[in-house]
Amino acid sequence: MINIELLERRNMKILGIETSCDETAAAVIENGTRILSNVVASQIEIHARYGGIVPEVASRQHMLSIVPVIEKALTEAKTSWQDLDGVAVTFGPGLAGSLLVGVNVAKAIALSQNLPFTGVNHLEAHIYANWLNKEKPPSFPCLCLIISGGHSELVLMKGHGQFEKLGRTRDDAAGEALDKAARILELGYPGGPIIEKEASSGKPCLQFPRAWLKGSHDFSFSGLKTALWHFVQKNQVLGNNSLVANVAASFQEAVIDVLVTKTINAAEELPVKQILLSGGVASNKFLTKRFLDTSPIPVSVPPPHLCTDNAAMVGACGYYHFQNGNLSSYDLDVVPSLSLG
Ligand code: KG4
Ligand code: ZN
Repeated sequence: MINIELLERRNMKILGIETSCDETAAAVIENGTRILSNVVASQIEIHARYGGIVPEVASRQHMLSIVPVIEKALTEAKTSWQDLDGVAVTFGPGLAGSLLVGVNVAKAIALSQNLPFTGVNHLEAHIYANWLNKEKPPSFPCLCLIISGGHSELVLMKGHGQFEKLGRTRDDAAGEALDKAARILELGYPGGPIIEKEASSGKPCLQFPRAWLKGSHDFSFSGLKTALWHFVQKNQVLGNNSLVANVAASFQEAVIDVLVTKTINAAEELPVKQILLSGGVASNKFLTKRFLDTSPIPVSVPPPHLCTDNAAMVGACGYYHFQNGNLSSYDLDVVPSLSLG
């Protein structure tokens, strides 16, 4: 039996676990905001040689890393098993084999330590990076832009656990588009940070198309990707370093232009008190600068290491689940195509 009083303790320490994709991560979070530890074992180097994530390789790597990563998170947080008050784990969306590793380890810990446990939506967790290490928490209602390798979502958040989906990508996600652009330009994987680096030495002087999808809050980036492919076929781009940099800068500019303009328009229309950015693409400096420079509505941006996949955001989100009495049972299954709102 779970001791419900545990959930009402003043300083509640949650162990967050994240294995949805190619990062094995564990963190200890106090009261949903304070990071006591945040350990991430990245598999990027392993997958880079294949030019993308290989699901089978990812789940096997999670199996190897998960126990040492959790032990490290507890040691760095100076927290023993007995000091923990709950376990939160990502159960979707993501790769089934990867999610299964985290969920089953979380269940084993909860069962053996008699701790409450909660399954967390990875997209919701990304949003909660905006609660970490902040003196003042975000104000509701807020508009959340989640931009990652698999998702570009606009979600209205009216309160903790209250989400309404306004828009999503109709094809490629923003991060996926950047990853594919880097592949077309033969720059390597993952594409987002590489395109950002190239863009720093280039100029956004080429005009690539923007899919505005007027009247809808949805996004679309596959036409932009196709336009890039045709441009590279028609012009001698590869090997011409300054042209590659200009192409990268122009492609990135097209992605940013659509994300920033559509998000600010939606925020003004609703209206909301704040815009919350999250997901790996939100670590892009050009994008965050554009938001901060142009938005009339306050914008919250987590630091880059809390935008990309981590378990601190899972622990923060889990804390609010526990506060709302949102506990999971031991038959919780993984949901690879889970959505939010
Ligand atoms: O949130 P995340 O770490 O994992 C998923 O949930 O997918 O996001 C990964 C995505 C990748 O597509 C990666 O290329 C992109 O975020 N990304 C970036 C940057 N850093 C990571 N995109 C643009 N600029 C960056 N600096
Ligand atoms: Zn993610």
